[in-house]
Amino acid sequence: MEEQNKRFLDPNIPDEMSATIRPKTLSDFIGHNDLKQNLSVFVSAARNRGEAMDHVLLYGPPGLGKTTLAHIIANELGTNFRATSAPMLTKQGDLAAILTALEPMDVLFIDEIHRLSTAIEEVLYSAMEDFKLDIMLGEGPTAKSVRIDLPPFTLVGATTRTGLLSNPLRDRFGIDLRLSFYSADDLAKIIMRSAGILGTKIDDTGAKMLAKSSRGTPRIANRLLKRARDFATAVGKDVIDVDTIKTTLYQLQIDDMGLDKIDREYINAIIKNYAGGPVGIDNLAASLSEPVDTIEDVIEPYLMQLGFVQRTPRGRVITESGYKHVGLEK
Ligand SMILES: Nc1ncnc2c1ncn2[C@@H]1O[C@H](COP(=O)(O)OP(=O)(O)OP(=O)(O)O)[C@@H](O)[C@H]1O
Ligand SMILES: [Mg+2]
Repeated sequence: MEEQNKRFLDPNIPDEMSATIRPKTLSDFIGHNDLKQNLSVFVSAARNRGEAMDHVLLYGPPGLGKTTLAHIIANELGTNFRATSAPMLTKQGDLAAILTALEPMDVLFIDEIHRLSTAIEEVLYSAMEDFKLDIMLGEGPTAKSVRIDLPPFTLVGATTRTGLLSNPLRDRFGIDLRLSFYSADDLAKIIMRSAGILGTKIDDTGAKMLAKSSRGTPRIANRLLKRARDFATAVGKDVIDVDTIKTTLYQLQIDDMGLDKIDREYINAIIKNYAGGPVGIDNLAASLSEPVDTIEDVIEPYLMQLGFVQRTPRGRVITESGYKHVGLEK
């Protein structure tokens, strides 16, 4: 159960049926209305002028819709979508091959863009700014630099951590889109929409309850919905109701705020081992046996959003409401 639960809430795990559930147009994309309005202005302006749209940087915690939006941008622009991810680009030549294969106005999506090596970032600078590729051919004294024209294109970069992006790279994005956690109302709408696509019924109260336990994250909402559907099927129900949701959350050890066992362990570890903090991230990672990245990208953003933990210059501190949530007093 432990292992299973740990994997269950990890927003980084790809979803089954995600291709069908994933919204394909801006109007299917639920929530983030200001962002959608701006984006639709930028898309139609680029289309009207027949130009490539400016480069877009998408950032926010896992599972909030960065990859989805990148697809939507290409879709709305009516162009090809080419995708890669920074860890796959190990040599300058890897990126050069992708860039030279682009067609005019294409969208090139680079996931986890904060993980690009400096050498590859440098190739990207002139590609983004001037649509030129500067590349060294050969090695040693016979090496020479050549400049190749690229078609105009739109780079869409996604990152969970804008803090890790170098300034020169960040400055080359004309459009910055920040995705924050979703409200329970928006998540309930996402759940209803997904239920429709899955051919499953869920009642309003059930959808709201599930939304509240989804950590503000559409990917988790969809995943919980599929498990709730399993629990409904198991007892022969054809509508997911509040009872089904209660069973689902109980079985998966998720509480009414959407925290799972690891979240609670995080809070308890700081309280029990470090008197509530402050504690440095490395010590905390060691005592939880979790990688620092997972703690910073997956666990902490939501706990901070709930106000259960604060990051201070001296380390992490559990707040009064964090204590209360695990049944303790500060
Ligand atoms: N605004 C939305 N409306 C409806 N569904 C959404 C929305 N945003 C995300 N989703 C759903 O959540 C799933 C996860 O989104 P997505 O894969 O785009 O997240 P991500 O931000 O790229 O995550 P990661 O950082 O892990 O790559 C998608 O498959 C999609 O079905
Ligand atoms: Mg993604």
